[in-house]
Amino acid sequence: MSHQVVQLANGQWSLRSLDVEETYHPVVGPESESNVLYAQQIQLERLLTASTFVVWDVGLGGAANAIAVINAASQYNGKLKIYSFEHDLEPLNTALNNIDKLHYLIPYQDILTELLHQRKIQFTNNSIQIDWEIVYGDFPSWLTNQKDSSSDIQQPHAILYDAFSPKKNPDMYTLDIFRKLHRLLNNSAPCILVSYSRATLLRVTLLLAGFYVGKGAATGEKEETTIASNKLDILSKPLSKEWLGRVQRSNSAEPLHTPEYIQQPLTQDSWKQLLSHPQFSN
Ligand SMILES: C[S@@+](CC[C@H](N)C(=O)[O-])C[C@H]1O[C@@H](n2cnc3c(N)ncnc32)[C@H](O)[C@@H]1O
Repeated sequence: MSHQVVQLANGQWSLRSLDVEETYHPVVGPESESNVLYAQQIQLERLLTASTFVVWDVGLGGAANAIAVINAASQYNGKLKIYSFEHDLEPLNTALNNIDKLHYLIPYQDILTELLHQRKIQFTNNSIQIDWEIVYGDFPSWLTNQKDSSSDIQQPHAILYDAFSPKKNPDMYTLDIFRKLHRLLNNSAPCILVSYSRATLLRVTLLLAGFYVGKGAATGEKEETTIASNKLDILSKPLSKEWLGRVQRSNSAEPLHTPEYIQQPLTQDSWKQLLSHPQFSN
């Protein structure tokens, strides 16, 4: 068993990885954080104009983020496609075995059980048609194998980027990964990527990968998180030039060039690239 459920200080229950020693949605619990951080920040009203609104749920885990998106999307008419990327289905199994504590799962128990076994499911919630699929395997390897945007997998309008922390899960935070991710986006359609982290290292990485980067909503004790996009005008709070001062002072700003967690100040080369990013150079 690599996961168990633990009770948070506010009384909510959440999953914890015993191997990685990290708790999912650690401060406020899965229901609140998944809604505030992910569902409410991906501009789901775009469902009304998209033929199918596509979400990449990176790190399915206990499915809290995906369920929060389904709940929030259910006020609209339209079609929602969710691809959940995951290389370990044990957390979802453990979550379903603890449904008495993880109440967000209750309305979706049968759906999740089928998803777990068939790896895909289609259903309707109010007026929304949902097509949910697990893309099983190592996400960085999957990205490396996507040669261009001609993949079977539809390009995302939103990416819920919820791996473990860069320290524990460095393979999911390299500059190479985010460059590949950015390359797969649809140039003509905005995509919003949400991360719970506000680390300078992550923000610099996203910028050097080609994303525009802004401040995301507060959640629990975190006064800020991160939102990135391939379009500047979709960000309500883009990082300003003043933020570059923080980068210069930081001891952990240089992107990870290999899947190894190394903290170091920004190199001259990365600094030059950052200054020439269109978010700051215009
Ligand atoms: C913090 S948990 C995700 C929580 C989840 N989003 C939720 O709402 O319950 C991180 C997840 O990322 C997955 N993960 C980590 N590294 C991965 C990789 N290289 N490929 C695919 N999934 C990965 C882990 O197995 C874990 O389930």
